[in-house]
Amino acid sequence: MNPVTLEKLVALCKRRGFVYQSADIYGGLNGVYDFGHLGTLLKQNITSSWRQAMTRTDRGDMLLFDGSILGPHAVWEASGHVQGFHDPMVDCLACKHRYRADDIDLEKACPHCGKKEWTDIREFNMMFQTNLGAATDKSAIAYLRPETAQSIYINFKNIISTNRVKLPFGVAQIGKAFRNEITPKQFLFRMREFEQMEMEWFCKPETAAQDFEYWVEQRIAFFAHVGIKKENIRQYEQKPHERAHYAQRTIDIEYNFPFGWKELEGIANRGNYDLSQHTKFSGKELGYFDEATNQTIIPHVVETSIGIDRLFLTLLFDAYTEDVVENEERIVLKLHPRMAPIKAALFPLTKKLSEPVEKLYKDLKRKGYSVQFDETGSIGKRYRRQDEIGTPACFTYDFESEKDSSMTVRNRDTTFQERISIDQIETYIKNLTQ
Ligand code: GAP
Repeated sequence: MNPVTLEKLVALCKRRGFVYQSADIYGGLNGVYDFGHLGTLLKQNITSSWRQAMTRTDRGDMLLFDGSILGPHAVWEASGHVQGFHDPMVDCLACKHRYRADDIDLEKACPHCGKKEWTDIREFNMMFQTNLGAATDKSAIAYLRPETAQSIYINFKNIISTNRVKLPFGVAQIGKAFRNEITPKQFLFRMREFEQMEMEWFCKPETAAQDFEYWVEQRIAFFAHVGIKKENIRQYEQKPHERAHYAQRTIDIEYNFPFGWKELEGIANRGNYDLSQHTKFSGKELGYFDEATNQTIIPHVVETSIGIDRLFLTLLFDAYTEDVVENEERIVLKLHPRMAPIKAALFPLTKKLSEPVEKLYKDLKRKGYSVQFDETGSIGKRYRRQDEIGTPACFTYDFESEKDSSMTVRNRDTTFQERISIDQIETYIKNLTQ
C-alpha cells in the first residue's frame, strides 16, 4: 500500500473536479482555489454536518449569524489585529525570495538559490487592506476580515436585544476569511482566501472552564461523526507562553497530516477580552443584564474555530486509499457516506438497458438524492470512477433485473456485491447517511 502524499491528492482533486487552482489559465493565483462540482458538494456536506452539530446542543440556545466580510479600521484596531496580526518575514537578498521566518532555518542557506544573505526579520501584517469609496483618509480604510468571529462580538448588543436568549448561548457563523499569508502552502492547508466555521459561546465567568471542557468533547465527537479515524486526531494544549495573551486556555485539535501533526481546529477560553475591548473602543456597553443577580456582566467566551478547506483536506487525506482489486490497482476515497459528494451511482449493464435505470435515477434526483447515472465504459471502469470520488454504493441493472426486479449493489470499501430489490434502493441510500 502506498502512503498518501499531497501531490497525489492535488492530482486527484484536479482530475475529478474537486478543486482547481484559481485563475489557472492566467498562471494561477497563489493560495487561492476554486471548487468544482464534487468539491462544492463535499463542502456542503461539511457545513451542514457542522451546523447540525452546533444547533443540536442542549446546553443552551444556538443562534446563526452571517456577518459582512468588510470591516472598518476601528473594529480591527479594537480586536488587536491592526497592531498584532503579524507574521515574521525574511527575504533572501540574493534571489529576493520571501519566507516566513519561522518556516526556515536562518542558520542555513536559502533553499531557493543556495546563498546565505538574509535581511533582518520584519513583521508583516496579514490583513488585506482596502479603501471604501473615493476617500483616502483613515476613515475610508477597511479590511477583509481575517476571521469571522469579530462580527459576532460587535453585534452582541443587536443579538441579545433581538433574540430572547439567556446565558449560556452560542452564535455560530460560516463564512469567508482572508489572510495575506507570506507563503501559502500545502494546498488547502494554508490559503489566502478560505472559509471558517466559528462558534462563540457566551457564558457566565463561573461556568466558562466547564463549558470549555464541554466544547472540546463535542468537537472531538464531531470528528468521529464525519468519519475521521480516531488515531489521526489528538489534542494539544497550548502552553501559557504559546497562548494569545487574553486566552485562559487553548486546545488545538491536531490531525496527523503527511507533513506532520498540525492544527485542524482551535478551541479557546477567551475570557471577556473581546467584548471588553469593543466596549472600550466603541463606547457602547456590550454587557448582559443578569436577572438572577440584578447585575450587568460582561460574558465570557469559549470559541471553537475551524477552516472548512482545512477540514476538506483532512477528510481527503484520511479517506485516500490505494489497494488492489482483482489484480488491478485502484484509488478509493473511503469517505464516510455522510460526507461522500455522490451517495450512489446507477449503471445499466449495457446501453440497451438504460431506460429503466435512467427513470430510477431521475426519480431519486427529484427526491433530492445526490446520485449519478453512468452508462459509458465497462462496469469495471465505472466502478473505478466512482471509487475515486468516494461513492459508497453502485447499483447495476442487468438482464436478470427485468425478471426479478432487482439490481446488484456493490460496496465501495469491501467490493462485496449482493442483489437488492429495486423498491428497496431508496431506503438503502437513505440508510447510508443515517
Ligand atoms: N477566531 C480564531 C481564529 O481565527 P486561528 O487559529 O487563526 O483562530 C482558526 O484559525 C482555524 O482557521 C484554523 O484552525 C484553521 O482550521 C483555519 N485557518 C486559519 N488560517 C488558515 C489559512 N491560511 N488557510 C486555511 N485555513 C486556515
